[in-house]
Parts: sequence; structure tokens; C-alpha cells
Amino acid sequence: MAAPVVDAEYLRQVDRGRRALRALIASKGCAPIMLRLAWHDAGTYDVNTRTGGANGSIRYEEEYTHGSNAGLKIAIDLLEPIKAKHPKITYADLYQLAGVVAVEVTGGPTVEFIPGRRDSSVCPREGRLPDAKKGAPHLRDIFYRMGLTDKDIVALSGGHSLGKAHPERSGFDGAWTRDPLKFDNSYFLELLKGESEGLLKLPTDKALLDDPEFRRYVELYAKDEDAFFKDYTESHKKLSELGFTPR
Ligand code: HEM
Repeated sequence: MAAPVVDAEYLRQVDRGRRALRALIASKGCAPIMLRLAWHDAGTYDVNTRTGGANGSIRYEEEYTHGSNAGLKIAIDLLEPIKAKHPKITYADLYQLAGVVAVEVTGGPTVEFIPGRRDSSVCPREGRLPDAKKGAPHLRDIFYRMGLTDKDIVALSGGHSLGKAHPERSGFDGAWTRDPLKFDNSYFLELLKGESEGLLKLPTDKALLDDPEFRRYVELYAKDEDAFFKDYTESHKKLSELGFTPR
């Protein structure tokens, strides 16, 4: 599909859409699933073939029924009324804006949002997102394919500061932190503490401790929240722009 024309009316709808997202996220407490939707739409990017990415293709049944997207139809449906009221905003932009707003309204940093992503109707094949049961080499395979770095892997994993796993969606259960509706550096503090009663650690979370290159970022972000927020902001912006070149 053609790139949207980001004119004054488009920007006006983005502004209003942003306010509508704040209200929706506040009333439904759905920040975590919105962040996950944004990440799963973008995280299919392949830097070599320049396919996938933040292109709204997750709105199609073919893609949201991929195993790793279990539950995300809820977020897609919650955003439909906002899309209907602000029809100029592409799905690709709306999903990324929802991710940015989710982080912001839960106490996280403000990630710069540049509109203009085009929607695609081409869904990637299943298997481009990370498998939580695997280790550091797999994380690198997946994130390097997106064109991201070790620092991005660790900073973005801090997204697990929000939300929880649901047995019926992923087979895992529980939250990573004591306050899963607050975006902060507690994910890294909990990770370094080791097993704690009632909190979740995926094999891919634990992999960040075992690998020395990953671990140095975990230690930095646990002791310095400002450093985490600064790096997270940059990594999230990169993620939100996979497959999109802002003009
Ligand atoms: C939830 C895996 C990276 C944000 C989950 C769940 C799994 C998972 C298994 C539970 C899903 C469910 O049962 O509902 C992974 C793996 C990653 C990764 C293997 C590789 C590093 C990320 C990134 C972000 C993110 C980069 C965002 C920046 C979230 C959020 C939730 C979540 C917010 C909670 C969703 C909810 O509460 O409904 N992730 N994830 N994850 N993930 Fe990740």
C-alpha cells in the first residue's frame, strides 16, 4: 500500500488518537498488551529481505493466529474504535503509537513517535518472533535479523517490566515484577535477585544473566534507571521504525 500523506489533518488525527489511546489504556488497564502488540507487529522485520516490520500486518487473521501472537486479537479489537474515529492513521502507525503511549502512561520514558508508516497486507511466515524456551544464541539470531544489537536486546527485554504471561496464551504464568502496570527498571532488579516467590523468569530472561555481554547491561540498568530509560527510548524507537524510513 502507498505511504500515507502526513499532512496537517493526519497530524491532527495522530494528536487526537494519542489522547484516545491514553483514555483507553487508563480505563482498561491494557498498557501491557498494547506494548506487546506493537512489539509483535514490528518484531517480524527481516533486515536482509526488508520484509515484515511495523506495517500493521498483524491485524490479519493469518498473522494474529500465529502461536506467538496468542491473545493479541484482544488488543487489535480494542484499537478498532480508535481507528474508526481517526481513519487517516494507518494501522501500522496506530499500533506503534499505542506502544509508545503504553510506556509513557505507566511511568516510562517518552519515546519519540514519527508518523507515516504504510500498511501492508502481506503477512510474514510464522516463526520470526523469539521462542521464550531458548537461549542467548537464539535471541541474537532473531534480533540481529531485525538489525538490532545486544544492547537493544537487553534494553527492550525491560518491556517485561509491564504485564504478565497467561497459561492459556503462552503456557507461561505470572508477572516479572511486583507492579506489572508500572514501567520502571524493576525487571532488571528482579532478574539479578534470582528466583522469587510468584514471579516469572522465562528461559530467554535468564539468558540475559548467563551471557557476559548481555549481563553487563542488566547490571547497569538495575543500578541506574536513567541509563535504562535512555537506552530503552532509543531501542524502542528503533523497534517502532523497523521497515519504516521516516521522511
Ligand atoms: C509477554 C516472550 C521480548 C513486551 C510475553 C510472554 C512471553 C514473552 C512468553 C507471555 C505472553 C502471554 O502469555 O500473554 C518474550 C520473548 C522475548 C520478549 C521470548 C525476547 C526477548 C519482549 C519485548 C517487549 C515485550 C522486546 C517490548 C518491548 C511484553 C509485554 C508482555 C509480554 C508487555 C505482557 C503482555 C500482557 O500482559 O498481556 N513475552 N518477550 N516482550 N512481553 Fe515479551
